[in-house]
This record gives sequence, C-alpha cells and structure tokens, in this order.
Amino acid sequence: MAKELRYGMVGGSVYAFIGEVHRKAIAFDPRAELVCGCFSNIPSENEDTAKAYGIDPGRMYADYKEMAKAEAAREDGIDFVSICTPNFLHYEIAKEFLLAGINVVCEKPLCFEVAQAEELEALAKEKDLLFAVTYTYPGYTMSRVMKDMIAAGKIGKIAAVNAEYVQDWLINELEPQEGAKENLSVWRKDPKFSGISNCVGDIGTHIEAYVNYVTGLKIKRLAATTNKYGHALDLNANILVEYDNGVNGAYWCSQIAAGHYNGLVVRVFGDQGALEWRQEQPDYLYYTPKGQAMQVLTRGGNGIDQPAGGYSRLPVGHPEGLYVAFANIYRDYVTALIEKKAGRPYDTSSITMVDAGVDGVKFVHAVVESAEKDSAWVEL
Ligand SMILES: NC(=O)c1ccc[n+]([C@@H]2O[C@H](COP(=O)([O-])OP(=O)(O)OC[C@H]3O[C@@H](n4cnc5c(N)ncnc54)[C@H](O)[C@@H]3O)[C@@H](O)[C@H]2O)c1
Repeated sequence: MAKELRYGMVGGSVYAFIGEVHRKAIAFDPRAELVCGCFSNIPSENEDTAKAYGIDPGRMYADYKEMAKAEAAREDGIDFVSICTPNFLHYEIAKEFLLAGINVVCEKPLCFEVAQAEELEALAKEKDLLFAVTYTYPGYTMSRVMKDMIAAGKIGKIAAVNAEYVQDWLINELEPQEGAKENLSVWRKDPKFSGISNCVGDIGTHIEAYVNYVTGLKIKRLAATTNKYGHALDLNANILVEYDNGVNGAYWCSQIAAGHYNGLVVRVFGDQGALEWRQEQPDYLYYTPKGQAMQVLTRGGNGIDQPAGGYSRLPVGHPEGLYVAFANIYRDYVTALIEKKAGRPYDTSSITMVDAGVDGVKFVHAVVESAEKDSAWVEL
C-alpha cells in the first residue's frame, strides 16, 4: 500500500550513527516512505545505503543540491527531507531544501551562527514549510507526561531547575597519549565542522531544549565556565541560567565524567512539589508532591492520567527507548504534515520546531561568550 508521505535523507549512511535511528523511527508508524537520498559524500557509502534501502538508483544523489532541485521538480517528489549530516552542513542543506519548497527535519545543533538560524526560521515561515529540529528527549512518553503535569500545576510555581547531561566517552582526552587512538570523532573535535563548541553544542543544547520543552521557561541570561583541557573546543561546562521569570537554573554538561554514558537528568522544583526524569531509565518519572513521599510514575502504568500517557506503545514493564522517542517525534511531525497537506488544522506543539533550534544556537554562543569573559552574565 502506498504510504501517505515520501521523504529523503541527507547524511546518515548505514555507517553513520543517527541517520539509521531516524529511518528506523520513521518506520515505527508506516506512513512515510524513504524514496531518495544523498546519504554520504563518500560515493561507496552512499551506494551501500541506497542499496540497503532499495532506493531507485535514479534517486540516489551524489550531491544534496542536485537532490533538492530534482525532487522539487518531480510530480512524486519528497514531502520532507531529514538532515543527518555533521553540524557544519546543516545551514546550507536546510536552506537549499527550503528554497526548493521542501519541508525539513534537521538534526541539532541547528547551525553555527545566530543570524543563519534566524534566516532559516524566517525562510520556513515565508515558504510556509514545517521545519522541525530533532532534540530527541522530548519524544519520550514520560517527558511529555512531565510537561503535562507541570502545565497542570502539579508542582505549583517553578522555583528552581537543576539539570545535567554527562558522558565519559572522551575521558582519555584529559591526558592524550602519544600514538593512542583518537577518541574524539574527527568532525566533533574540529571547529570547522563542529562550530564554536563541542560539548555544549552536542549535549548542552539538549538540556536547554528539554527544560524549555517541559517548563516553557526561556533563558534570559547565563553565566558559564567551559573546560577544554588543551583542546580547541570544550569537553565540560557549568552554566548558571536565569529565566525570563527571574527563576534560576544550573546546568552541567560533560564528556569526561567517568561512569556516565547518556546521563541526561532534569529536576524541576516548584512550590508544590518536584519532578525528575532520567533518560537512562526513561519509562519512570519521579514525582514528589510537597509533604509526601516520592512517587514513581511508570509509563503505561497506573496513575498516568495525563494526555501524553497515550504515547506509550508497549505494555508497562516492557522498556521503550531512544528509537521510540524519535518515533514519537516523527509520528507528530508526519501527522502535522499530512493534516497540513490536506488543508486541515494541524498541531506542532509537541515537536521542537525551528524556533527551538534558534534558541539552541543562541545558547551555545552565550555560553562560549560568557566563558571567554571570565563567566560574566550574557544576555540571550
Ligand atoms: N538528536 C540526537 O540525539 C543526536 C545524536 C547523535 C548525533 N546527532 C546529530 O546528528 C548529526 C550527525 O551526527 P552523527 O553522529 O550521525 O555523525 P556521523 O559522522 O556518524 O554521520 C554523518 C553522516 O553524514 C554524511 N555526510 C557528511 N558530509 C556529507 C555531505 N556533504 N553530503 C551527504 N552526506 C554527508 C557522512 O557520510 C555520514 O554518513 C550531528 O549534527 C549531530 O549533532 C544528534
């Protein structure tokens, strides 16, 4: 049966990391079909991926510009493109597809410069296209339950936020050994490919986007320290933030924290209680109403009376994970696009769209500027 939408991908060969996750996630709800791609700048990797996914050889493109042009000209051209390349290419690729009139899903961080991010946002608006940025973690069911509970006043007025995203995969970079295998993937290490930040751009932006998603709070200003340990870009950062309502938060992101893998932990404290979510145990949400014992809310389990509980796909006790988080993001994006194409009302409120991408770029710049100015407060 023909699927309702067609999509293409730039980057994300079968040898890469996140593109494969995107493809699998889209396939959870079989409404969008992969029909074309420019999966790699390395011809053999592009071909291997096109073959693995049964792509018509005429729709395997050596160049993303050619792909945007050719797909825009086809009757049966793609409805959206997923961009899964390294950071330095996001801006030019996204711009090319927007100019061609094609909807975009782009990996984070959106791009290097604030002006570029704002240009992409304006272009999407002008062309009336749906532009999502895949921040991943809001896709988990219990993140959405957390957002609903905060909006429903379950923890009252927010008084403080504390969040971290910590990993240890670059711990060897603290003391690089002569002749040792490089651990920092080439493009992440080099400002030409990664931008002005490594760790903050890669995982600090997830904290910023997540807190905004679940609380609605926007950062007004921040003060930061970053640690490079002799490298060109940061591997660790501590960030104090002040939101637009005057409340403070503290963020820590690190790639040198021994014993931590993908430790995104977000704690939101209100005057009536607290909520805490941990990405490594994503099916649980820790809820402490003021004056009561902590409750462990479980995805698919009793006591989840929030609408977002409906995102749960497996019975309680069968763990869901990262693929499903991406699948939920794509489920909402594809639904919005189908409704929009049909001229019906559509809803993007559960998806991090291009405006969240713009905020992420501003956040990275503010952190780097503050760290360079001896941790001075920097307005966003
Ligand atoms: N949302 C998340 O949780 C998450 C997780 C990991 C990575 N990411 C983001 O995804 C992006 C890719 O990261 P990755 O870890 O998959 O990187 P990767 O290096 O594993 O993959 C990059 C892919 O892009 C391809 N590519 C490079 N130049 C190209 C070009 N000119 N045309 C077409 N393809 C090209 C490469 O061949 C490769 O297939 C980055 O922006 C990263 O920040 C996001």
